[in-house]
Amino acid sequence: MLGGTIMPQLLVNEIPEKDLEAFSDLERQYLSKLYIEKLPRHVAIIMDGNGRWAEKRMLPRNAGHRQGVEALKRVVKVCAIIGIEVLTVYAFSTENWRRPKREVRFLMDLLVEYLEKEIVSLDENNVKVKISGNIEALNPTARDAVIKGLEKTKDNTGLIFNVALNYGGRDEIVRAAQSVARLVKNGDISVEDIDAALFEKFLFTAGLPDPDLIIRTSGEQRLSNFLLWQMAYSEIMFINLLWPDFGKKDLLLALIDFQQRQRRFGALNHKDGE
Ligand code: FPP
Repeated sequence: MLGGTIMPQLLVNEIPEKDLEAFSDLERQYLSKLYIEKLPRHVAIIMDGNGRWAEKRMLPRNAGHRQGVEALKRVVKVCAIIGIEVLTVYAFSTENWRRPKREVRFLMDLLVEYLEKEIVSLDENNVKVKISGNIEALNPTARDAVIKGLEKTKDNTGLIFNVALNYGGRDEIVRAAQSVARLVKNGDISVEDIDAALFEKFLFTAGLPDPDLIIRTSGEQRLSNFLLWQMAYSEIMFINLLWPDFGKKDLLLALIDFQQRQRRFGALNHKDGE
């Protein structure tokens, strides 16, 4: 403590040497600019641009999705190492069922392959897998792989890796409204008992902090039905990179940008009211 102010803690000093090995010299330079107190608790990502990445290379779209999984692995690794509490990724939306059948099939198979290959390493890294979305609608193989992943990692205490799967923000809000309406109908609560805190207990993300930072890759600037309720005060970044090209350094740069933003949550500044 100096003159009553708390000195911000540099993140890099807290990372074990063996974990630092995962970073290049440039990435370590970026890491050394991050402060523990200023890290977002919850990072959420719209992983967009797999198709365009493939098309640019005259490859089938599926090759882009496969490369997208590699980007996802990098990001999960960084988040686990630096102590992000929650990482949410938009893996499959309620609208993605409208894609050609074989692309849907490929994405589901890729999810199963990813979970089967990565679950041991996720578990060893203390990552807890969570799903936001309705998994009842998945094919039995995908559903089983998901349930196995949830079960295997349920007691882990590190990064919560929240996969938005068959997820849509409106669908989530409608479901929550139905659940609350049922409580009223059964006489368990009165209409006046309904407030934001009660309502969000019925969202898929119940118990998680709201996303502090939402990243969308590919340059598209829209939110596509992602975390509509939860993003009330999120910082949003649209990044001009296709998802398969998103590397560790790009995440670190986004975190540096985030820590320079002043969040006000509707007040004048963080000392408002003092
Ligand atoms: C958007 O790219 C991406 C998706 C719809 C799926 C994201 C999926 C992955 C990164 C891999 C699978 C996920 C897991 C958890 C294994 P797009 O196809 O919309 O790209 P485009 O806009 O360029 O066509």
